Amino acid sequence: EEIKLFCPATIANVSCGFDVLGLCLTQPGDEMIIRKSSTPGIQITKIGGHNLPLATEKNVAGVAGLALLNNLKELKAGFEIEIYKHIKPGSGIGSSAASAAGAVFGINQLLGEPFSTKDLIPFAMQGELLASGALHADNVAPALLGGFTLVRSYEPLDVIKLPVPDQLMATVIHPQLEVKTADARSVLKHSVSLKSAITQWGNLGGLISALYTSDYNLLARCLHDEIIEPLRSVLIPGFDEVKKTALAHGALGSGISGSGPSIFALSKDKETAQKIASAMAEVYQKFEVDYDIHVSKIN
Ligand code: HSE
Repeated sequence: EEIKLFCPATIANVSCGFDVLGLCLTQPGDEMIIRKSSTPGIQITKIGGHNLPLATEKNVAGVAGLALLNNLKELKAGFEIEIYKHIKPGSGIGSSAASAAGAVFGINQLLGEPFSTKDLIPFAMQGELLASGALHADNVAPALLGGFTLVRSYEPLDVIKLPVPDQLMATVIHPQLEVKTADARSVLKHSVSLKSAITQWGNLGGLISALYTSDYNLLARCLHDEIIEPLRSVLIPGFDEVKKTALAHGALGSGISGSGPSIFALSKDKETAQKIASAMAEVYQKFEVDYDIHVSKIN
């Protein structure tokens, strides 16, 4: 008995929602095959595409899967996992989250769904803890639930699925360098000014309203981040120019995808999203930086 899964990339933070907001892309994504095994526990039998650890306790899919199994009453279950990575590790579009979310989703299916999809989030978060040193859910929640998600609270965990305006598209460019989430978190300050906090929660509240009302103008007014982006953007060559170019070509907003180095832009139709992709690509061609680029729906 086996299951084959598509494990989607995600954009965390989405400018004003550091650690709480995330969205799910329709591409790129990893493929994963999970099958039942007579050996209890989790075996990662194959990883294609990238060099990642096969040892269960060092692999995000392994750790997330074990977290699920440890919460089962019947402890005998065993699974083999094959992972085919298409999302580059350290790219900022939820590579580790795709593996962690895929593992728990697939195992839950093969077990006959003892857990709801929302209940799987804390197990997948254990994979994120291994990958980044932080228990954040803003990639695994949209990877599991789809669309936009908001982590209203971490303790206790309270995740809300949000609506996606019909036409909304994402463009993501990944300059070919790796930024480790743990490093991108270590540059952050641990306190924020009241003035910045007011701006940020105003924007986050406005963004949620924009999603419910499909108000693209409001969405554009809300896609700002004056707390995290100024500290992290210095780690990303060409960031200011790529962002400026995206906005000049009709993006509703643009910012760092997750912890970077990918840069995302949102737009209100496919044509604009594609124009933004070409314009962003030109910036990196000028700088002679290699890149991957994706234009995707949000779902
Ligand atoms: N919210 C996390 C961060 C996402 O920005 O560190 C990492 O993908």
